[in-house]
Amino acid sequence: MLNQDDNDKLTKIGPKTPMGNLLRQYWMPAALSSELSACDSEPLRVKLLGENLIAFRDTHGQVGLVSEQCPHRGASLFFGRNEDAGLRCVYHGWKFDINGRCVDMPNEASDCPLKGRVKLLAYPCQERNGVIWAYLGPRDTPPPLPKLEWNLQLDGTTFLWRGYRACNWVQAMEGDLDSSHINFLHRTLNPDDLSTVPGVPLPGYATAGIQLLQNGGLPRLEAVDTEVGVLHTSVRHLDEGHEYHRIHPFMLPFHTMVGGGTNEKEVSFNGKLWVPMDDEQTLILEWQFRPGKPWTDEEIALLKKVRFPYGFMAPTSQAGSGWRSPANLKNDYFIDRSLQKNKLFSGILSNPLQDSAMQESMGPIVDRTREHLGPADIVIIKVRRRLLKAASDLQEFGIVPPSVDHPELYFVRPVGAILPSNSDWVLMTQKRRDPQE
Ligand code: FES
Ligand SMILES: [Fe+2]
Repeated sequence: MLNQDDNDKLTKIGPKTPMGNLLRQYWMPAALSSELSACDSEPLRVKLLGENLIAFRDTHGQVGLVSEQCPHRGASLFFGRNEDAGLRCVYHGWKFDINGRCVDMPNEASDCPLKGRVKLLAYPCQERNGVIWAYLGPRDTPPPLPKLEWNLQLDGTTFLWRGYRACNWVQAMEGDLDSSHINFLHRTLNPDDLSTVPGVPLPGYATAGIQLLQNGGLPRLEAVDTEVGVLHTSVRHLDEGHEYHRIHPFMLPFHTMVGGGTNEKEVSFNGKLWVPMDDEQTLILEWQFRPGKPWTDEEIALLKKVRFPYGFMAPTSQAGSGWRSPANLKNDYFIDRSLQKNKLFSGILSNPLQDSAMQESMGPIVDRTREHLGPADIVIIKVRRRLLKAASDLQEFGIVPPSVDHPELYFVRPVGAILPSNSDWVLMTQKRRDPQE
């Protein structure tokens, strides 16, 4: 439970809010490279941290992320012409490069004093292996990009996609910090059929790990603070003397990773970045990474089917619209009561939609003054405290979290491990959590 002030502080991310200031210290995924596939292609609306922005790829292949509103008289640059290394407003023809410089003002005489003085708000971008990162923070020279193993691979071992949630980023993210819901929300009733979309096999997963998860009963949760965030494990009893750990790093401000599999062979890892569009909408960046083994087209088709059984809505020109599912709160996510009786605990197809149904049904920003948190919620409690403290430290004392300037802190993996009961799980899995360059 939080008081109203802390709930506001935790969830509100607009400019000048404490959490908004904290988030702006970090690089944000603004779009996938595939969304701006060609030079001079059409501009893309991006909603990020409550700001309405336009992304475009110029003639040289460079990406710009600028304010949607033209600084002349405020028309939307979404309607702009992306041509000759700049985005031209179609109202009076002013043209801006990716750095926001006004490079042409054709409706004014050449000696107009405005020339050379007008600037469009533009945020620095860096593109790395399929992700367009943007820095919305206060520094003239942005910090380095985080060293994320999944984002350093060029070899087809990472599969990326995005997911939309019609709710605040923290309540969406708390779904991935909450191991105890797995045994309920994501349970399949037949232990031999582990897929949450009946008939679609799980590609590239360690099914032995999922089996242990489903059969292992309620987890014991433990969490420790780390320099970059919180490392937590969910521990399930296996037999006399052994326990199954799923060890997940949370990294500031919004990276979650899911550990799975077993000691013998880990086949793939999964993680998410819970990126706020505004206070009431989240656009997740999700990755699936399989070291040393590129995904085949067939596997990618299965990955998509497992996650998006209904595909996506036809995209409109609105920000994030192409990542919305046809199954949503208005149609109860197509819940099937007979499926619920016979196959799936929730009656809703696919993990992401099961999560969406729970997180969005809480309302756009859940009222945390009315919760009743128990020991099964310790990770959520710890991460909330961590975020609130980081936001207060920055706001009150100007303390920037060390993770901002230490990209190497992000070079970690989640793991699944069978360990002797009551082991020092942090120490015993240290090596396996290190990707070892
Ligand atoms: S409003 Fe954009 S050029 Fe006039
Ligand atoms: Fe979930």
